Amino acid sequence: MSSEIIALASDHGGFVLKTSLTEELKRLGYMVLDLGTHSGDSVDYPDFGYRIAAALAEGKATLGVAVCGSGIGISMAANRYPWVRAALCHDVTSARLSREHNDANVIAFGERLIGTEVAREALRVFLATPFAGNRHVARVEKLGAPPRTPSIS
Ligand code: RB5
Repeated sequence: MSSEIIALASDHGGFVLKTSLTEELKRLGYMVLDLGTHSGDSVDYPDFGYRIAAALAEGKATLGVAVCGSGIGISMAANRYPWVRAALCHDVTSARLSREHNDANVIAFGERLIGTEVAREALRVFLATPFAGNRHVARVEKLGAPPRTPSIS
């Protein structure tokens, strides 16, 4: 059993894949924090992206999994907070690179766009891949501290 707690959240469009990924995490020995939604009834994806951000901010989870129909809306929502680095992944390579280069702490999927087996493998790779550090450290730090007023130069 891993001591890591993984938070999961989805809207109705990601509910089925979230259920499958929850099973996969439990099979791998992770503790899970399921932040909903808990059925296929229509809900608003931002509310669930914000729950993932809250779980990370409050230290209730170290990593998150976010799912909606496309993965776009829920990752946009989570990424509105500077401590969230949510990577929308459609394949195993993006999952690996999101950890190596970006130190992603949330992986996002689009249930309507990715197969279950690919998503499960991408999740396994995401969890197994360490941040590469070195030249990537300063870049990731910049993600956490965007300038209040961005400049074109
Ligand atoms: C819900 O129909 C859908 O819009 C949502 O799951 C997601 O794809 C939004 O980005």
